[in-house]
Amino acid sequence: MIIAGNWKMNLFGDEAAALVHDLDRWLDDGFDGSMIVFPPAVLIPGVINALDKTTLLQIGGQDCHAEQTGAHTGDISAAMLADAGCRHVLVGHSERRQHHGETDAIVQAKAKAALQAGLNPMVCIGEDLSEREAGSAFDVVTRQINESIPSQFGCSDFTIAYEPLWAIGTGRVADPDDIAAMHQHIRTVLKERHESLAETAILYGGSVKSDNAAAILGLDDVDGALVGGASLRAEDFIAIASAGRG
Ligand code: PGA
Repeated sequence: MIIAGNWKMNLFGDEAAALVHDLDRWLDDGFDGSMIVFPPAVLIPGVINALDKTTLLQIGGQDCHAEQTGAHTGDISAAMLADAGCRHVLVGHSERRQHHGETDAIVQAKAKAALQAGLNPMVCIGEDLSEREAGSAFDVVTRQINESIPSQFGCSDFTIAYEPLWAIGTGRVADPDDIAAMHQHIRTVLKERHESLAETAILYGGSVKSDNAAAILGLDDVDGALVGGASLRAEDFIAIASAGRG
């Protein structure tokens, strides 16, 4: 079970330090899974400083460039994130795809750069509302898998987060049957590529909250959750992780 928190462009230094401190303390009591948080890049060093060296909380970046260094003003590389103490990075989040023009090819290049830097890329995929309503959700997700995930990747090289766009930040959660069907589909597509990819962790994201987490995390083929809004308060995020325990 992987419980991941995407803070997006939220929180300031003190709030971030207090939040990870609370998560760290909770993890000390034992959690049979992994917990990851993805802070804004400038908060990463502070967050890592606020944590015990032996912490079980893992840190990730929200995005990386496809190159490791160079003339790319405003960008951050996977190598820099790794150097700062990150173990993960989100690539292809729908907000990057939609508002920053990231194509599947760009996402794939970022995923490669992440692995090369020693990070585990969490590749985000998901259909938008018009695609869902047109009945093409499965085709869209198949294309995103085939074109965003490098063909040489093995199952432990990456993680997938399936996030239907219409469920992100809207409070509108996908129907559990639809989530289960899509996760099964994703696993089948991966398995068709290579038998061993059937073991890839597939997380669900989109309005996961403490009151719906148990139902979602209990579904077949759901290996965890990528949580946005509800990852900003320790109490809410811990309640989601606790729901995944059962
Ligand atoms: P949300 O965001 O939980 O606020 O819907 C999820 C995400 O975008 O990763």
